[in-house]
Amino acid sequence: MPKVTIDGHTIEVADGTTILQAARQIGGECVPPAMCFYTSLKGSGGKCRTCLVKVSKGSEKDPRPMPKLVASCQTMVMDGMEVASKSSEEVVNARKGVVEFLLLNHPLDCPICDQAGECHLQDLAFEHGSAGTRYEFERRTFEKIDIGPYIKLHMTRCILCYRCVYTANQITDNRVHGIIGRGDHSEISTFIEKAIDNDFSGNVIDVCPVGALTDRTFRFKSRVWFLKPMDAHRECDKCCGKTTAWMYGNEIYRITARKDKYGEVSEFICNTCRFEKKGANDWIIEGARDIEKHSVISQNHYVTEALTVI
Ligand code: SF4
Ligand code: FES
Repeated sequence: MPKVTIDGHTIEVADGTTILQAARQIGGECVPPAMCFYTSLKGSGGKCRTCLVKVSKGSEKDPRPMPKLVASCQTMVMDGMEVASKSSEEVVNARKGVVEFLLLNHPLDCPICDQAGECHLQDLAFEHGSAGTRYEFERRTFEKIDIGPYIKLHMTRCILCYRCVYTANQITDNRVHGIIGRGDHSEISTFIEKAIDNDFSGNVIDVCPVGALTDRTFRFKSRVWFLKPMDAHRECDKCCGKTTAWMYGNEIYRITARKDKYGEVSEFICNTCRFEKKGANDWIIEGARDIEKHSVISQNHYVTEALTVI
């Protein structure tokens, strides 16, 4: 099993593990941000470049450093490899540059965006971004599109991470969707409307790292930091039925799949659970959900232990 050292932490990992996965096994500050890689989506990663790291030693056999920064979600660990992530000034500067690129066309509309408070780009910009922009050209904008009754596509906010495309690809049989155009003209094709006419289409909302795909049954109803995320489940014949119910008092404002600390869903949920079961009686509420990902939603929340004592 290869051994890799990331920011001074050494770990032994299974063959075929990427630097990003190895860093996640170590945990803490050495974990690179990832805007496009998604563990359960085959083919994801390699698009956004936020996960860049420096390989200062290639391996025990060939200790030469890699000449350029590499995407950690796509680079396999080699035995004896040494990697610098947050500890490298070059890497931190490169991430700043990537954030600047991602924000070139992204509107700074966090105050009215439904994703605010759980947006990966917002967190990334907060940690790595600079306050100004050097971009002087007109920004590209798009009309908002309704993708069926439940999903709104706001292409202006899209960072072209491809996650929704891979999700739609994974949940449908025929590939009739994707990103059309090249370079500055790339956009999520409206053919996606066809692709996500499926019982699991709502999952594209959960995988979208920004506010480009939002839940039409929840849009503008509340801000996530006013809601209490609770683990909830119900008997469902289409999906696992295990969800997070976002509650205000006894009312359920929205249902999402359960996400881990990297914002990833391991078990996708069906549209019936997500969009059609909003009554408190529809669910067995298990208790407060620990929000592991640091973000505004983890601020000012109850402590789970305190709840059980009361
Ligand atoms: S709509 Fe969201 S998930 Fe889809 S490519 Fe754009 S940013 Fe990624
Ligand atoms: S997470 Fe690695 S390139 Fe996007």
